Amino acid sequence: MAGRRGALIVLEGVDRAGKSTQGRRLVEALRGDGHRADLLRFPDRTTEIGRLISSYLLKEKNLEDHANFCLDWCKQPDIGLPKPDLILFLQLSPEEAAERGNFGNERYENSSFQEKVLQSFYHLMKDKTLNWKTMDASKSIEDLHREIKSVAEETMQEVQNKPLGQLWK
Ligand SMILES: Nc1ncnc2c1ncn2[C@@H]1O[C@H](COP(=O)(O)OP(=O)(O)OP(=O)(O)O)[C@@H](O)[C@H]1O
Ligand SMILES: [Mg+2]
Repeated sequence: MAGRRGALIVLEGVDRAGKSTQGRRLVEALRGDGHRADLLRFPDRTTEIGRLISSYLLKEKNLEDHANFCLDWCKQPDIGLPKPDLILFLQLSPEEAAERGNFGNERYENSSFQEKVLQSFYHLMKDKTLNWKTMDASKSIEDLHREIKSVAEETMQEVQNKPLGQLWK
């Protein structure tokens, strides 16, 4: 039908919260129901910038770490990008996250940094111009998948005739 659009749905959460698992499951399920769905990952470690980020995270390269200084600085490049219709925050305590397999050797894969990441999420979630929804990520993969699929379908219905917004504008 003319004018209808898809939904931009973002999965967020600390390391090990289940973003990749749930993203894959959601796309598979939506495709199974006949929807067109695509999974995008950030950073995309196959692009030029993605490779740079990847080698930094793998500690092969050292760069000046602005992320430690200022959340506003981090937001700048994303201003004006397509605004997510729904941001699902997969909430998991750092303790529970750590139980899901050992942290690897990547930079930031440690509890104290993950705690800082969590605090930044809580700060960003105060922004009422964004549609955050907190999901309990300690549930089983299957139960969480069913909940995520259900809210994703509601959002797809709600936004299909509405214009896409611009982030932080
Ligand atoms: N609901 C769950 N219950 C138990 N284990 C889970 C659950 N969801 C994911 N896992 C497991 O936890 C690990 C991390 O999951 P996943 O890779 O999906 O997380 P992520 O948020 O994408 O992590 P990262 O930030 O490191 O990319 C995997 O081994 C996955 O199988
Ligand atoms: Mg992942």
